[in-house]
Amino acid sequence: MSNSLPVSIIIFGASGDLTQRKLVPSLFNLCRKDRLSERFRVVGYGNTAFTDEQFRAHLKEGLKQFASFEYTEEQWERFASNLVYQQGRYTDLADFKKLGSFLRDWEGSSGNRVYYMSTPPGIFPNIIDLLGLTNQLGEENGWRRVVIEKPFGTDLESARSLNEQIHKALNERQIYRIDHYLGKETVQNILMARFANTIFEPLWNRNYIDHVEITVAEQVGVEHRGRFYDQVGVLRDMFQNHLLQIVSLVAMEPPVSFDATALRNEKVKVLSAIHPMKEAEVPLRTVRAQYKNYREEKGIEPQSTTPTYAAVRLQIDNWRWQGVPFYLRSGKYLQEKLSQVIIEFKEPPHLLFPNAENHLTPNMLVLYLQPDEGMHLRFEAKVPDTVSETRSVDMEFHYADSFGKTAIPEAYERLLLDIMTGDASLFTRADEVETAWGLIDPILRAWDSQKQPLAFYEPGSWGPKEADELLAQEKRKWSTWDGRKE
Ligand code: BG6
Repeated sequence: MSNSLPVSIIIFGASGDLTQRKLVPSLFNLCRKDRLSERFRVVGYGNTAFTDEQFRAHLKEGLKQFASFEYTEEQWERFASNLVYQQGRYTDLADFKKLGSFLRDWEGSSGNRVYYMSTPPGIFPNIIDLLGLTNQLGEENGWRRVVIEKPFGTDLESARSLNEQIHKALNERQIYRIDHYLGKETVQNILMARFANTIFEPLWNRNYIDHVEITVAEQVGVEHRGRFYDQVGVLRDMFQNHLLQIVSLVAMEPPVSFDATALRNEKVKVLSAIHPMKEAEVPLRTVRAQYKNYREEKGIEPQSTTPTYAAVRLQIDNWRWQGVPFYLRSGKYLQEKLSQVIIEFKEPPHLLFPNAENHLTPNMLVLYLQPDEGMHLRFEAKVPDTVSETRSVDMEFHYADSFGKTAIPEAYERLLLDIMTGDASLFTRADEVETAWGLIDPILRAWDSQKQPLAFYEPGSWGPKEADELLAQEKRKWSTWDGRKE
């Protein structure tokens, strides 16, 4: 029934970057595809004094810069007529009352609402309190869903208290904690690759896999976010959320169904099987590094020890993964923008082919998350016109070849749609976010004690030599997507 109700999408922090770059282009594209409710309205809320017209012009500007799809003026006009703006403060009860009546006036007796927190993280608990105090979160006249952007807390304790605080006003099923990596097609495809095929899953365990590498490399530095980033660093910015989410999808057991509870239960189980590091283990299993010149960037403290790169070795203590290390790395200002998961299989147990040149090259499955989305399987083939020489070859699947160059939508499109249809599978549950913090906290604490030296790396490189040493101590090397060793 409630599906036929009008839908309001209220964006707090509407004059900010995220709204212009991601949220509105994604909503617009959903509208073009006729996937939004027949009656919908996007209500921007913020301190900035915009008229509706100015708000629309500001968003159109963003679209020109950031939209990855073609559109017509007519399509934009049709969508833009649903964009409105409410100026207001984030601490003022009267402004929130005004917002409430503004929404009711348009909805009539009932309507569904998405409240999207696209504000700095310090502000949203206050917003939720004010929404509660102005009776905007009760579901008597339509559903109410609240979307929370990362970072969710800065450590385990703050994440717990945030959860407690928001649970006072909301049920867990109303809360959608966003991790935009889960909206990426290729991240979801980890599940399809594993569970929509029969050929991989029998090998997906300690009997056949030597180790797993997860790389999320960025070419950009901290850009205009220096002040924010300097307080956060790479572990909070990338590992606690994106990288651990990828780990959980790669390592989880098959869920009994594809519904949110079943899926998220399995993800939490994997994270719970990773033992939080003891302080003495941290220097042996992690690398913290900063790119040279970082301290000269705008907004960065001159003595900052904030890491812009980290490498972490995780161990999942369960039957499937015992003894299989997971090596994770992520950093800013690296050589390429590249996100990938490499499953490196064990070497063949016996060298059959007598050739001095020959070496045993392990098979490798690469899940290529971005930018050239796809999957590669590397295996050995006989070199023609030799007696028994072999060489590694690749079997490749590229999304662009199979589905077209523009097939992959913006991650936010899928996430926004799921929020409106009430599917929370791709959102982080309270216990999941806390379990993830439980793994990151000990590393942060050990790093904060400054006993482990901060390494430095050249901008445009693949990171510090210490990251190579992390693997070298276990006689391994980081791989590149096509199997070349760095
Ligand atoms: C964000 C981080 O969550 O993810 C940014 O805060 C980072 O620092 C970004 O640049 C990377 O996302 P993507 O989709 O470009 O890989």
